[in-house]
Amino acid sequence: METKREKFGSRFAVIMAMAGSAIGLGNIWRFPYMVGEHGGGAFVLVYILATILISLPIFVAEVVIGRRSGRSAAGAMSTLAGGRIWKFAGFLPVFIPLFILSYYSVVGGWSLEFLIKSCRMAFSGVDPESVTGMFGDFIVRPWAPVVSHLVFLAVCGAVIALGVRSGIEKFSKYSIPVLFVLIVVILCYSLSLPGAGEGVRYLMKFDVSALNPQTFAYAMGQSFYSLSLGMGTIITYGSYVSRKENILMSGVGTGVSDLMFAILACFAIMPAVFAAGIAPGAGPGLIFQSLPFVFAKMGAEIPAISAIVSIIFFLTIVVAAMTSSMSLYEVGVAYLVENTRIKRGAATALIFVGCGVLGVFSAMSFGPLSGVQLAGKGIFDLFDWLSSNILLIFASLLTVIFVGWVMKKNDVKAEFTNNGSLSLSGRLFGIVYFLIKYLAPVALAIIFVANFIL
Ligand code: TRP
Repeated sequence: METKREKFGSRFAVIMAMAGSAIGLGNIWRFPYMVGEHGGGAFVLVYILATILISLPIFVAEVVIGRRSGRSAAGAMSTLAGGRIWKFAGFLPVFIPLFILSYYSVVGGWSLEFLIKSCRMAFSGVDPESVTGMFGDFIVRPWAPVVSHLVFLAVCGAVIALGVRSGIEKFSKYSIPVLFVLIVVILCYSLSLPGAGEGVRYLMKFDVSALNPQTFAYAMGQSFYSLSLGMGTIITYGSYVSRKENILMSGVGTGVSDLMFAILACFAIMPAVFAAGIAPGAGPGLIFQSLPFVFAKMGAEIPAISAIVSIIFFLTIVVAAMTSSMSLYEVGVAYLVENTRIKRGAATALIFVGCGVLGVFSAMSFGPLSGVQLAGKGIFDLFDWLSSNILLIFASLLTVIFVGWVMKKNDVKAEFTNNGSLSLSGRLFGIVYFLIKYLAPVALAIIFVANFIL
């Protein structure tokens, strides 16, 4: 079944590409506020458990499907098992990632705009209060968010068009280690701010009483989102993993990088939020309003440092969002290249146009289209809620059922242990298989239902 499909060059490259997909906006704005809202350290503990027991097995399941079939998400399942259901199941991950990409790149566009603002030193020498309003002013404009969304999408497309080895791999190999350095720089700055201690205490509290079924559901949902599960991205990247690679180790490497980054991001952001005296509110506002406020406030005293840190901060967000967006792009591009006669460049252009147009609705959902609401949610929120709470969980459920109940156990084992040559994987197979077959489906079914009743 080995084709002339492109492969990642080394284990480091595999982990960096997958960590690139995993590390994104989910780590930088979603995780810190979730930790704060749901019991601090206690939430982190639940999150780590959920990652080890459920997300990691699903991650492994996706790589197994991708590498064994040598196909991208669509078609991977039907290659391994016939039947109409699996054709349909494989089809979901072609559309859902594009759906996510369309609104994810809107946030990417906001980050790009704020990076440009930082470079123009828009946060220095102005009243900090007025800086907080910049975000609100920007997202309600009719065309500016659309333009920044399209520019962001085009830049990601340019890297994707270069290919797996010379685009995704090269970009991730250099940018992910740099991201870690950058987030540590921001962390040091943040911790040095007067009043930072309160933010640290907020994160370090260990509030066991905040743990309830809802916390578990949130921790699991966040863990899936953060590891890019359920959307065919890991299946697709899995198909670029060489047969010699150790799947378990790639999964552990990716999971650990993702977790480390999320925790570093917490300590980089929360102390600054508290130093600024802002409530640790939820959502995108946290990074686009609080941080510029801090930069403006500090900028009055030491303008140069504050300007540099603001550039570093938004650059980190742009790059993190880019590598995640690239993985979403790749699912659609790989599908077109495999199933049609369209070449990679043209396929990228097609996805760009499709997501570009679809994203216009999300980009305009705070401005001209703010009146369009369904169940109290605007278009942007609807896209986010539908994809991360419903579609992602449902698609993950199909994935684990496929690996646990449809694929032959021996095939899964052969893939996981490289035909028996990896002894540690061989010893752990029983546990991982149990988690995939029983625990993951039950946990996913519970979260799916919990979304409607909690
Ligand atoms: N994991 C990314 C983040 O944390 C987002 C992402 C990329 C994603 N690909 C995905 C989420 C696939 C779900 C499914 O920001």
